[in-house]
Amino acid sequence: MNYFSSAHPSLVIFSSCQNNWPDSNTLDQLVALDKGFNFPWSLDRWKDLDQQEHFILFLLLESEELTAMGLVYAPNLEQSELIKLTVQACYKRQGKGIKLLENVISYLSSIKAESLFLDVEETNLAALNLYRNLNFNELGVKQNFYGPGRNGISMRRSIDATQA
Ligand SMILES: CC(C)(COP(=O)(O)OP(=O)(O)OC[C@H]1O[C@@H](n2cnc3c(N)ncnc32)[C@H](O)[C@@H]1OP(=O)(O)O)[C@@H](O)C(=O)NCCC(=O)NCCS
Repeated sequence: MNYFSSAHPSLVIFSSCQNNWPDSNTLDQLVALDKGFNFPWSLDRWKDLDQQEHFILFLLLESEELTAMGLVYAPNLEQSELIKLTVQACYKRQGKGIKLLENVISYLSSIKAESLFLDVEETNLAALNLYRNLNFNELGVKQNFYGPGRNGISMRRSIDATQA
């Protein structure tokens, strides 16, 4: 588990390949939360992620309940990618998504990452609005990225090293 001084009090950050991956209860909650959205991963896939380098997992754990999660792949300082961002259905529209992503950006700033990339389905207005609120810029459309007729929008935000 990483210590991150300016983090939200309920935020816990895990880095792969550091022998500190979430415990089985938290992984079960993660699988359940991930099931609520596109292309969910199996428990084995979440477990195996710990053996792959450069993944950073951000969890909002409030009274041991997992309310939101974000997953970043950061193979180098130039390019980090937001792979997943999900808030539990009953906690949506309470500011948790934006708070979690602000903390992701702050953490990336603290490790001197330069930019954060992501893809979002063009019909996902909740996520698009959230990313626009946080000053992500649209880079272009990926035709059929999520399946036939389901386009993706690529977005990028530079990470300001002064905000960590
Ligand atoms: C997208 C998601 C993470 C947003 O989380 P959230 O905690 O509900 O969002 P927040 O309460 O922090 O809202 C932040 C901003 O996002 C936008 N937003 C969030 N939900 C929205 C909705 N249903 N409709 C329109 N805009 C929305 C708004 O701009 C909002 O700011 P506002 O409340 O001041 O208007 C959440 O809806 C979710 O988990 N969706 C399913 C997974 C997903 O789509 N992930 C993104 C993959 S690319």
